[in-house]
Amino acid sequence: MSKIKSKLPHVGTTIFSVMSKMAAEHNAINLSQGFPNFPVAPELVENYKKVIEGEYHQYMPMPGSPRLLVEISEKVSKHYGRNVNPEEEVLVTSGATQAIYTVIQAIIHREDEAIVLDPSYDCYAPSVELAGGKPIHVNMEADFSVDWNKVEDAISAKTKLLIINNPHNPGGTVFSEADMQAIELIMERNPHVYLLSDEVYEFIHFEQKHISVNTRKAIRERSFIVSSFGKTFHVTGWKIGYLVAPKFLMEEVKKIHQYVVFCVNSTAQQTLSNYLPQADLSQLGEFYQKKRDFFRGLMKNSRFELLDCQGTYFQVARYNEISNLGDVDFATEMTQKHGVAVIPVSGFNKDQHDDHLIRFCFAKDEETIIKATEKLCKI
Ligand SMILES: Cc1ncc(COP(=O)(O)O)c(C=O)c1O
Repeated sequence: MSKIKSKLPHVGTTIFSVMSKMAAEHNAINLSQGFPNFPVAPELVENYKKVIEGEYHQYMPMPGSPRLLVEISEKVSKHYGRNVNPEEEVLVTSGATQAIYTVIQAIIHREDEAIVLDPSYDCYAPSVELAGGKPIHVNMEADFSVDWNKVEDAISAKTKLLIINNPHNPGGTVFSEADMQAIELIMERNPHVYLLSDEVYEFIHFEQKHISVNTRKAIRERSFIVSSFGKTFHVTGWKIGYLVAPKFLMEEVKKIHQYVVFCVNSTAQQTLSNYLPQADLSQLGEFYQKKRDFFRGLMKNSRFELLDCQGTYFQVARYNEISNLGDVDFATEMTQKHGVAVIPVSGFNKDQHDDHLIRFCFAKDEETIIKATEKLCKI
């Protein structure tokens, strides 16, 4: 049988799948892939049960359930003071991943460039390549801060998109007011560039509060803002998220969305439109802050050096005191020998540079965190 020509020849299975599979094979505690292992809100489950017994089993309208679109626009107004038109400026997507893919297909033409800040979430660059474009990778600094001069230097006449992720996975950083101003300046000086802001961890931030692009009048009319119900309501398996963008941009995105999925799972949409008015997101940051502090407290006597963590449910750690191995080998050893699966941070870097860092996911119940940290403290 002849082989087909690959569109992504350098891409293999993602590091998340590799580590989760290895965790299962070696019966290791899985702190690798980013998903919670505690129960979701009982009201959400009750709602889903009612919906599944009801009549919401057929296609929803292409952009999303009209009620959910309204609920999302109210959420954006409540949290960010921005009024968006539910019919024209909101799109329900199959997770943030599909929103990101579809935006990139809509904006990037052959030979266009998109700026990606590394370490970066793994779906950005391949989506640019599939559109025929070129991802231009700019490395963040060692502490995951961004040198915005480097970003601006990477922009050319061919640049169409600047992709940011805030709060940041894996770094656990949250952009400051100065970062937001720097982004605004770059956008002002480069009117040919659009912004894709991945804000899936928008409600998971700690001492440094998250500033959404939704609140920035100077740039939001040229921006795509991506959210994930999976992250916000601990239901990553539902794969449901949404996109906010001005009408002139959204029109092009919808042309592609209709051929990628047409519309998103009807029962999840109906459940979320019932649940959103009663959902209280004001405690989510605190909820994860307690988990972060619990994890960090139990790791105090370990030989891992924990970096600052201001948002997301990821904690990055340096392991120089423990091993000289590269991070992929070290993560493999941790999974196979020490029984805790983690993600090597070099997997998020295009140039694979290895700062000897690993990422833990602390979105776990107390028992899992206790068991994992007991093992980690013995390494
Ligand atoms: C930064 C970032 N963006 C996007 C996603 C994908 O979100 P979803 O599961 O809603 O597609 C993730 C999931 O881990 C993520 O960490």
